[in-house]
Amino acid sequence: KALIDEAEAFKAQSKDEVEAFRIKYLGSKGLLREFYGELKNVANDQKKEFGQIINKLKTTAEDKVNTLKAELESTEEVKGIYGDLSRPGEPVQIGARHPISIVKNQIIDIFSRIGFNVSEGPEIEDDWHNFTALNLPEYHPARDMQDTFFIQTNPDILLRTHTSSVQVRYMENNQPPIRTISPGRVYRNEAISARSHCFFHQLEGLYIDKDVSFADLKQTLQHFTSEMFGKSEIRLRPSYFPFTEPSAEIDVYWGLETETDYKITKGTGWLEIGGCGMVDPNVLTNCNIDPTEYSGFAFGVGIDRIAMLLHQIGDIRLLSENDVRFLEQFKSAL
Ligand code: PHE
Repeated sequence: KALIDEAEAFKAQSKDEVEAFRIKYLGSKGLLREFYGELKNVANDQKKEFGQIINKLKTTAEDKVNTLKAELESTEEVKGIYGDLSRPGEPVQIGARHPISIVKNQIIDIFSRIGFNVSEGPEIEDDWHNFTALNLPEYHPARDMQDTFFIQTNPDILLRTHTSSVQVRYMENNQPPIRTISPGRVYRNEAISARSHCFFHQLEGLYIDKDVSFADLKQTLQHFTSEMFGKSEIRLRPSYFPFTEPSAEIDVYWGLETETDYKITKGTGWLEIGGCGMVDPNVLTNCNIDPTEYSGFAFGVGIDRIAMLLHQIGDIRLLSENDVRFLEQFKSAL
């Protein structure tokens, strides 16, 4: 009877221990064999009880062997699949934000602090919002300034060529005062090279209120570039956009001698980061804003361009190739 308790309590760590247990109880020279041999020497009146006890011992030992084997096999199977479950964990691989997102968020932060909200519009646009309302009537030659991907013609549906379409949508739905920025992806049918791609990212700014002047525009842009690039200079170079008058290209100066003062140190000279101007009165009228009461400015900057400047990325294609060796490098950025 004591042996039954002992068999029941038995625990094993390995298959060898189970095997030793089996041999001890159930083996050809084991205890049970011995007890069964003993049976003939037991007094007749005790034979029945003795027989029952050794039968019980036999089933107990057999059950034990089977359950222990099954248990050990399943833990071994788990180890086979998952390895040693007690080993220290692997560090979790954390992703990195894409440089376009990093720069976009920085620009949003800068403009949020001076009262601009963020607005967005669709990438698939109609002719009105991308061209006509922006003072680019049908057959206007300036439409060719931006080679367009058309999805459908007549009525025209296209991939927006600039985020200026969001200006129109915003003014159609909001009355001044307006201070909004609209980041987003735009598309142009251009040959892909290190410097230009058929899609890229812009950030549009729009400020409409009473008595907004060109000086406000210039100061806003100067504030933006010094927040973005550190101490920097801007230059507004006269230009032409149908939706602004007067219009200018925005250049920043980089590659100055005192490297510590400037976040951008490589390269030389003025670099164009976007366009701007005073919103053409025709555009205000098209969007149901009275140009005799309100005026304003708009600008559009290239997010890819700024990201490339700040992070010294030499080829715009890197931004859309999804190469982890490139993307991983931005882990330490914001
Ligand atoms: N939409 C112009 C472009 O993509 C940039 C711009 C925006 C110019 C706003 C003036 C005002 O080239």
